[in-house]
Amino acid sequence: MLTKRINSPDEAAHLIKNGGIVAFPTETVFGLGVDATNTDAIKRLFEAKGRPSDNPLIVHVSDLENWSLAAAELTSDADTLLTAFAPGPITVVLPKRDTISSLVSAGLETIGIRIPSHPIAREIIRKANTPVAAPSANQSRRPSSTTWQSVLEDLDGRVDAVYCENTHSLGIESTVVDCCGSHPVVLRPGAVTIEQIRQLIPGAEELRVEANGAESTNQGRVNSPGLLHPHYQPRAAVQLVEVPSRQSLTLGDGVAYCGLLNFEGVDELTMTAVFNTVEEYAAGFYEFLREADRQAMSKVYVQVAPDVGIGRALLDRQRRAAAG
Ligand code: TXA
Ligand code: MG
Repeated sequence: MLTKRINSPDEAAHLIKNGGIVAFPTETVFGLGVDATNTDAIKRLFEAKGRPSDNPLIVHVSDLENWSLAAAELTSDADTLLTAFAPGPITVVLPKRDTISSLVSAGLETIGIRIPSHPIAREIIRKANTPVAAPSANQSRRPSSTTWQSVLEDLDGRVDAVYCENTHSLGIESTVVDCCGSHPVVLRPGAVTIEQIRQLIPGAEELRVEANGAESTNQGRVNSPGLLHPHYQPRAAVQLVEVPSRQSLTLGDGVAYCGLLNFEGVDELTMTAVFNTVEEYAAGFYEFLREADRQAMSKVYVQVAPDVGIGRALLDRQRRAAAG
């Protein structure tokens, strides 16, 4: 298959409407969009990404009023969160509407809904005039893509088109919040933080990871199978470091480092990125991992992000990247 390079929202919408798979920028990471009502397109999407069929997709709609295209009910917690944070980097999990194929929800009775704020994403979704299922635009297991070149690196020849425009993005996927229970549960941290959510809904919880890897909350086990699969992993081995130093790192050729702190000896590494703020670190993290692979690094030291604000989301991705 030839992957078209495009830069017209009309063309992207037309392709999606006709069963195509189109990568486009969002305010978090690039998404890989298909018509959520087209089961053949959904099947092709899972194949193109190499995505396990038990990992559900998020359905993207253009406006808050369109929640009913994918969900059977807008719970009051979801209403509160979407009113406050959408359009933006948040996904709410709601009871699924039965017109949405269970392929999209990976057999679950629930569906994740997101209203992106990125103008190109919104225009494409509005013009496609259908709910758009869009996972991150990367091969399954790999770091997400924040540039169209990275999308092509993973998916050239496997998808119908890539929208070729790089815009500044948060660099970390949306906050996923289960809104089906007695109180909201954050399943995946993102740019909308637990602190922000608790200001509106004080009883909101976060998923707990137990020693055996099982994830649970006060409401019991949570069904988000996607969390169990490997994610965000480059080919290079990733090792987390608290405070980098000449003593704590093995310096040398083929070794990379990224973090917020500089240290003596950093010049002896092949590849380094020292970010000024945690926001810049989050925005540049996946691309750094990808660049480490392009330069055939064998090891990447990753300084752990501070566990607050968007740092908490970055830390979650760092731990998963290092779990390979
Ligand atoms: O920022 C984002 O959310 C990006 C952009 C493209 O919108 N999309 C994205 O999709 O990150 P994906 O497929 O890479 O990640 C979706 C996550 C997975 O962890 C999946 O398990 C979870 O959302 N998820 C989706 N539907 C769910 C559901 N019904 N219940 C629980 N978790 C769900
Ligand atoms: Mg993903």
